Amino acid sequence: MDVVARELTYHYNKGAKFAVLALDDVSLNIAEGEFFGVIGHTGSGKSTFIQHLNALIPVEKGSLIVGSYDLSKRDKKTKKSLPEVRKKVGMVFQYPEYQLFAETVYDDVAFGIKNFYKSADKSIIDQKVRKAIETVGLNYDEIKGKSPFTLSGGQKRRVAIAGVIAVEPEILVLDEPCAGLDPQGKTKLWKLLHDIHKTTAKTVIIVSHDMNDVAEQCSKAAMFDNGKIVAVGTPKELFSNVKLIENAGLEVPVTCYLTDELKELVDIDSDFKTSSFAKAFADAVKNR
Ligand SMILES: Nc1ncnc2c1ncn2[C@@H]1O[C@H](COP(=O)(O)OP(=O)(O)OP(=O)(O)O)[C@@H](O)[C@H]1O
Ligand SMILES: [Mg+2]
Repeated sequence: MDVVARELTYHYNKGAKFAVLALDDVSLNIAEGEFFGVIGHTGSGKSTFIQHLNALIPVEKGSLIVGSYDLSKRDKKTKKSLPEVRKKVGMVFQYPEYQLFAETVYDDVAFGIKNFYKSADKSIIDQKVRKAIETVGLNYDEIKGKSPFTLSGGQKRRVAIAGVIAVEPEILVLDEPCAGLDPQGKTKLWKLLHDIHKTTAKTVIIVSHDMNDVAEQCSKAAMFDNGKIVAVGTPKELFSNVKLIENAGLEVPVTCYLTDELKELVDIDSDFKTSSFAKAFADAVKNR
């Protein structure tokens, strides 16, 4: 499923004195298969944009097509298809662990499955819950009967992600999935998200504030600034333009900063991932 947004505009509290223009003429394509980053300063419209993707926020103006669903339409057929859209586009909110609610991990992960696969019998539900819990790297037999509230922060986040991937969405959208995790927790979560990208969700869309992470992890990214998209490209394309990144109120990745600082001395051509930067730097020094 591709995402095609055209001139998408959205106001909070439209018509009221305190109306806020959160999206301003946003046009963006996200092709199936991408591991796509959504970046931008705080309040730039990232969360507003991604919440359009499963129709949590209705299209006010412009158009939005997700796979075969035209979310800009308001007819009965489109309204009827919204549960399908929500099944195909899984949304993991920021700090998803705060949304755990059930008495056991099993019940929490099973909730979405029961909602979206109404005719699934107990054995199918069991199978799907087990698969999702194991996919997020937890031990099903050990954890299924525990209260989610007794788990560590990292485990809770995994359980919350399991609840979303259990429904087997084609597009998985995560708002700041690594917020508040320690470096080891972050590394593990990125690995998990790439595993899910390989096995479950064809497309992964991630909101991130961390440009180093985006350089390291994403195949492509879109940069928001005051509700507008100011750049779209591979990390290499985006981060080659240091001024653009800084003007949008973002920090450039360390590798990008170093490349820029060193350019009078050595020419380093890398995609700004730490490993390729280090190799390109070493090669440039050797060849000098
Ligand atoms: N529920 C709301 N009511 C009114 N205004 C809102 C609401 N949610 C967001 N906004 C405003 O809309 C704009 C875009 O907000 P949004 O949450 O999409 O930004 P963001 O890029 O996700 O920011 P952050 O990085 O802080 O999460 C901001 O000006 C914000 O204040
Ligand atoms: Mg946000």
